[in-house]
Amino acid sequence: TDPLRLGIAGLGTVGTGVVRIVRQKANLLAARAGRPVQIVAVSARSRDKDRGVSLSDYAWEDDPVALARRDDVDVFVELMGGHEGAAKDATEAAIAAGKDVVTANKALLAHHGHALALAAEDAGRVIRFEAAVAGGIPVVKALTEGLAGNDVTRVMGVMNGTCNYILTRMQSAGLPYAEVFEEANQLGFLEADPTLDVGGIDAGHKLALLAAIAFGVQVDFDAVELEGIEKVTIDDIRQAADMGFRIKLLGVSQMTGRGLEQRMSPCLVPADSPLGQLEGGTNMCVLEGDQVEQIVLRGPGAGMGPTASAVMGDVMDIARGVRIPVFGQPAAGLERATPARAVTP
Ligand code: HSE
Repeated sequence: TDPLRLGIAGLGTVGTGVVRIVRQKANLLAARAGRPVQIVAVSARSRDKDRGVSLSDYAWEDDPVALARRDDVDVFVELMGGHEGAAKDATEAAIAAGKDVVTANKALLAHHGHALALAAEDAGRVIRFEAAVAGGIPVVKALTEGLAGNDVTRVMGVMNGTCNYILTRMQSAGLPYAEVFEEANQLGFLEADPTLDVGGIDAGHKLALLAAIAFGVQVDFDAVELEGIEKVTIDDIRQAADMGFRIKLLGVSQMTGRGLEQRMSPCLVPADSPLGQLEGGTNMCVLEGDQVEQIVLRGPGAGMGPTASAVMGDVMDIARGVRIPVFGQPAAGLERATPARAVTP
């Protein structure tokens, strides 16, 4: 059988993790997919950086757009990050060249997911992004596959581990925001632009993606009401604790009389609830549907292994011929707002 041939753009933490899995688990992946899964070409900013994995078996491209267009690439795996520039150009080029796309890029999809999904549908390709939402938690799969028989009524989540670390640490150590922020910085938890984390933007990107999947609407980051954690004080946290609550940066999306609510903001949650007990850099997604009532998924929202795990879940779906267009799954009582034509190989 034909191998599934990957081109990987971006060899930071996540890209390196994907290379490791494909190299170390080649036999297992082939057995599970019924065909070999191979990397044929890679692209990154630096060719010489020591990543602890050998790249010598793979073709090298300096330009991710050239990688995306290679004839020997079936799936373009975009792990560069950033929502303008190279990641966007290369993803568009891959779709135009008839490749399926697997990406971890929440910002790109939160801003351009609708246009990219339309382009993919027109090209008869899929764009999959499990790794973009809550790292290693397979929440996109849970919504699109496991809960396909439900009307989803609400999705909630703590989806930025850095903010959860800061809020948890303020609570447990009784330290002010500025001090814990500096600690998180020292530990290397913060994004290059920390506002993405503490301003709620990174979590807002993820919520916009989840809401679009759950409710069948166009992904629309601008519709997310955002409030970060910068103004949360140690007094707020103490007062909440006195009343039996914790403060969490919580995303909530549900249908209301005024339309779809998408809100990412510091919220009070009962201290003894699953959300209240969520500690450190962990993520949690709470999915509610008319048949299941409530499902709680908890796990690592970042890091090499968890995020590469999510990328590989998408790659393996494509290797097995599972071609679900994640955006545009119709939701109960709603006009279909995103692409949803069934895609056949
Ligand atoms: N900065 C993000 C977090 C990384 O803290 O959760 C994963 O998207």
